[in-house]
Amino acid sequence: MNPPNPTTRTFTTPDAWHPDSWRAIAYDEPYSYPDQACVDAARARLGELPPLVTSWEIEKLRAHIGEAQSGDRFILQGGDCAETLSECRPELIANKLKILLQMSLVMIHGLRLPVTRIGRFAGQYAKPRSSATESGDCNGQVCELPSYFGDLINRSPFTPSDRVPDPMLLVSGYQHAAMTLNFIRSLLDGGFADLHHPEYWNLSFFENADLDATRKAEYEHMSRTLADGLRFMENLGEQRVEDAHSVDFYTSHEGLNLIYESAQTRKVPRRDGYYNLTTHLPWIGERTRQLDGPHIEYFRGINNPVGVKVGPTTTPDELIALIDALNPDDLPGKLVLIARMGAEGVAEALPPLLSRVQSEGRTVLWMSDPMHGNGTKTTTGIKTRNFDAILSELERTVEAHANAETTLGGVHFELTGEDVTECVGGAAGVTEDDLSRNYVSLCDPRLNYQQSLELAFLLAGRMGSHQS
Ligand code: PEP
Ligand code: CO
Repeated sequence: MNPPNPTTRTFTTPDAWHPDSWRAIAYDEPYSYPDQACVDAARARLGELPPLVTSWEIEKLRAHIGEAQSGDRFILQGGDCAETLSECRPELIANKLKILLQMSLVMIHGLRLPVTRIGRFAGQYAKPRSSATESGDCNGQVCELPSYFGDLINRSPFTPSDRVPDPMLLVSGYQHAAMTLNFIRSLLDGGFADLHHPEYWNLSFFENADLDATRKAEYEHMSRTLADGLRFMENLGEQRVEDAHSVDFYTSHEGLNLIYESAQTRKVPRRDGYYNLTTHLPWIGERTRQLDGPHIEYFRGINNPVGVKVGPTTTPDELIALIDALNPDDLPGKLVLIARMGAEGVAEALPPLLSRVQSEGRTVLWMSDPMHGNGTKTTTGIKTRNFDAILSELERTVEAHANAETTLGGVHFELTGEDVTECVGGAAGVTEDDLSRNYVSLCDPRLNYQQSLELAFLLAGRMGSHQS
């Protein structure tokens, strides 16, 4: 068991914060770079490259999060557990974008709310691990090597040289994030996400018999109705609904490697304070949110909206201390609490947190991550998640918010636009025996295309009925 997290800490004044003030905090990093000169060179290079996102976009997302806090918008966040550099490929990126667009359409229709889409895209390359090392086979001998910490840190093949942390991967990660984002921006600018033409986003296997026929018909009917409705409004007003021609799309990743995050943290002209310009919404993972740790120190000083994962051991006092640290001025749109409790624990763990935050009048956006508390292993040791557990955590979360009279403003999924077999269950009936058919993820199992769309329908149905 980990010791409980502290609930008090004296912070230096805001003036004493700077993008590198986290370095003064002792931290047991689970990996170490062998060559400090190379780390310094990578950091220097990252510091001079252009930003990936702008403060305008970040501020716009902050306004969207503010609206979601008041129940006037919904946030859909999703993507890979770990992006990899080799998967920076147009068809994979387009498919992930398509599934998020399709899911958002289902949610817009079911919730009668605008939906903001945030990808775990363009920088989700660093992974926390439960153990710093792992043992495996090195040329016929059992050996112990550093774990794989994601493509931003080291390489996945189980060889001594691949597992050495390489600072130049920080620069490669940035470059691949830039390529990913460039492709997404051009797709969106080119009309790919035009709500008048939802058929543009249909994935090739939308026609696949695997997708439940009723769902398929429901989706087709819904997207046609939406496009017809838009045209009708435009005919009435004799103008085009401009917002409908391209949707906003934002990026997010876990801000785990603070060298990467701080190297691109800058002041921008005509605005106060610092922005992390690698992404719109960086978040702090469950394993690195200690109040006296370097991650809280770094995150408390940036203007971006920030997310923090909230697991089942979090106490109300600890959560309030985190809120004090990350959003001391109680700004709207600033802080996203991503609850990841697990289907079994959520009904017990979430309500005390909801009511404490509510009774103290703190402005936060509550989201649900029904993935990270629901990991299991098959009898043969394969990591998986059960669709029913994911759905059950969502349902219990919706229930807890309804009881507490608080707002569930978004959901966070690990998913892909491909036909992978990593999570079991769903209407297509992926079984444990199917997992070996197309298991691609190097980290956590993701919902495949059908499972993701099905979940969007089920969630929209459950939340829609709570709203009416
Ligand atoms: C993740 O989002 O991939 C992750 C590791 O989550 P958590 O920090 O909630 O365990
Ligand atoms: Co994960």
